[in-house]
Amino acid sequence: MKARFITIEGCEGSGKTTILKKLCAEFKEKNIKFFATREPGGSKISEQIRNVILNVENTKMDYMTEALLYAASRRQHLEEIVKPALNDGAIVLCDRYLDSSLAYQGYARGLGIDEVYAINMYATSGFLPELTIYIDIPVEVGLERITSNNRDVNRLDLEKVSFHSKVREGYLEIAKKYSDRIVTIDGVGTPDEVYERVKKVIFERL
Ligand code: TYD
Repeated sequence: MKARFITIEGCEGSGKTTILKKLCAEFKEKNIKFFATREPGGSKISEQIRNVILNVENTKMDYMTEALLYAASRRQHLEEIVKPALNDGAIVLCDRYLDSSLAYQGYARGLGIDEVYAINMYATSGFLPELTIYIDIPVEVGLERITSNNRDVNRLDLEKVSFHSKVREGYLEIAKKYSDRIVTIDGVGTPDEVYERVKKVIFERL
């Protein structure tokens, strides 16, 4: 199947954003019609939902509430931003999608991958990407990159290393489970090295 809706996944500091930027530059140069987005992706409603999830004061948030809010935010972004872009004939590149919920809420928070998958199947009416790139890096490498980038600290960045290790374990399990859709890329190396690996996979599927 040709890939029109492509998602990029990975742990904190995996380099998703850098790789996406390079990909956009290449698409532009090759005159390929594309649309790059990220959840909540400029949808005002999704953004408002996300602010509730990431608010550092919301320490009482129940894990299932969190999963449902992510799913709601995803639905709105899908209907308002992603689908119109696909209907307009663009290839859509999305930084994070349902696999983030499977890894973070399903596996790391312990709600269950299949349970969170079910919530998301309802929320998206089963709308899956044709291709998902999962950029895999050891947790220490990712966290080291974030600290040196001095990125804004949000509630989730404050989680312990053990949580991030679980997220990675979750991603590896999901990648195995949905191997038809998800391609794992080794994220260790220079941005150019990792980008070449990603580019090869994507251009084979366009
Ligand atoms: P984000 O601000 O997009 O940062 P990043 O640059 O790492 O993508 O993501 C914020 C956090 O939200 C990040 O720790 C992953 C988490 N997250 C979930 O737990 N579940 C989800 O469904 C999504 C989309 C993100």
